[in-house]
Amino acid sequence: MRLTVFGTGYLGATHAACMAELGHEVLGVDVDPDKIAALRAGRVPFYEPGLEELLVKHTASGRLRFTTSYEEAAAFGQVHFVCVGTPQRADSGAADLRHVDAVVDGLRAHLGDAPALVVGKSTVPVGTAGRLAERLEGKAELAWNPEFLREGFAVQDTLRPDRLVLGVRSKPAEALLREVYAPVIDAGTPVVTADFPTAELVKTAANAFLATKISFINAMAEVCEATGADVSVLARAIGHDERIGSRFLRAGIGFGGGCLPKDIRAFAARAEELGTGRSLAFLREVDAINLRRRERTVELSRELCDGSLEGKRVAVLGAAFKPDSDDIRDSPALDIACRIHLQGGEVTVFDPEAMDNARKAYPALDYAVSAPDAVRGADLVLHLTEWPQFAALDPAELAAATVRPRIIDGRGFLDGARWAAAGWEFRALGRPAQPRQERP
Ligand code: UGA
Repeated sequence: MRLTVFGTGYLGATHAACMAELGHEVLGVDVDPDKIAALRAGRVPFYEPGLEELLVKHTASGRLRFTTSYEEAAAFGQVHFVCVGTPQRADSGAADLRHVDAVVDGLRAHLGDAPALVVGKSTVPVGTAGRLAERLEGKAELAWNPEFLREGFAVQDTLRPDRLVLGVRSKPAEALLREVYAPVIDAGTPVVTADFPTAELVKTAANAFLATKISFINAMAEVCEATGADVSVLARAIGHDERIGSRFLRAGIGFGGGCLPKDIRAFAARAEELGTGRSLAFLREVDAINLRRRERTVELSRELCDGSLEGKRVAVLGAAFKPDSDDIRDSPALDIACRIHLQGGEVTVFDPEAMDNARKAYPALDYAVSAPDAVRGADLVLHLTEWPQFAALDPAELAAATVRPRIIDGRGFLDGARWAAAGWEFRALGRPAQPRQERP
């Protein structure tokens, strides 16, 4: 089939390459000529494991091409996927739909008489699909097919998703989407067909649930801190109950990134507009708990630095909002780094992949070339993104490089006993302090 994919960010670039992998002829479209030039040259402009291989493979075979021309795209595609971003508006928590609207209007202006299906994948407030369908009336049919990919696992989540949700208004639209995803469906992926509002809500409900689960365990971490209990043991124990499940129960500095924080705010804002604000009032608390964990990390840092961060050298391990990504959008790690910097701390950051993005966005912070380089001479170390290479560091070697070996594990990921045995004062959110042992 001939498909177009509008928007070549994290979602669109992955979707385009994966659709080529499924055997389709794909044209990726973006208004940013630099992005298009990079993709044409087989370069992914961000870090996503496995994506560059697919891009190189299919740009070489000619099955995957890129353009900035809507005219070319409209003439090429039978199915047009809308994968542009829906960031938070500057003036409120609501979603900014200007990119989605621009794609639909731009495409509409160039569509001819051939039948076309426009398929929304962007995360949008419920009601958007119905509005866009009206705009396309007489030119193309609309379907809504939300995506659930996680950064870091984007290729795998697209080729082997947990489920496909097809929001459709007609049998032919459903049949066309089933044809697009035939290899995925044949591999046993569950398919849920739904009306537009349900399809839109599946996505926002899923992200709201995940955010709530994280904030739930972080609320438990607050209670653990007040009682001397250990949230990591608590999470392990409740996670054995299959109805609860152990995933997304890792307490720490909380969720960030380009999705969960803005999606729960947009969802709550939409509920207010719909007159059902009370139904989602709890999401404000989910957001508040999440932000409190960042503040608590700064507070604990200050405590460990004898009451003041002024002039203290703080090493921050991690800048990306999570490992296996170079994405720093709403990164809890960088938010904490900046707050400490504002309180007079001398902050040095290291991240295996997100250095360029971090440097551009936060030029006032210092940056190191490696984790040991960041830690050298530090009064305090903060472990804020759980890259596996940080867990593999030798605590004894690092301890010797610091002024005082003190660390806060903001991700509940390091082996506290091992660090304490190497002479570190080891603290983790929601857990009792590890008794420090003398340096060997
Ligand atoms: C999230 C969802 O997981 C995807 O299903 C969804 O498709 C995507 O948003 C989207 O809307 O596009 P993503 O933003 O890539 O995916 O990241 P997650 O893996 O969900 O992690 C989000 C944040 O939660 C990270 O900062 C992570 O460190 C944090 N987290 C995750 C925790 O603090 N604790 C946990 O137990 C799990």
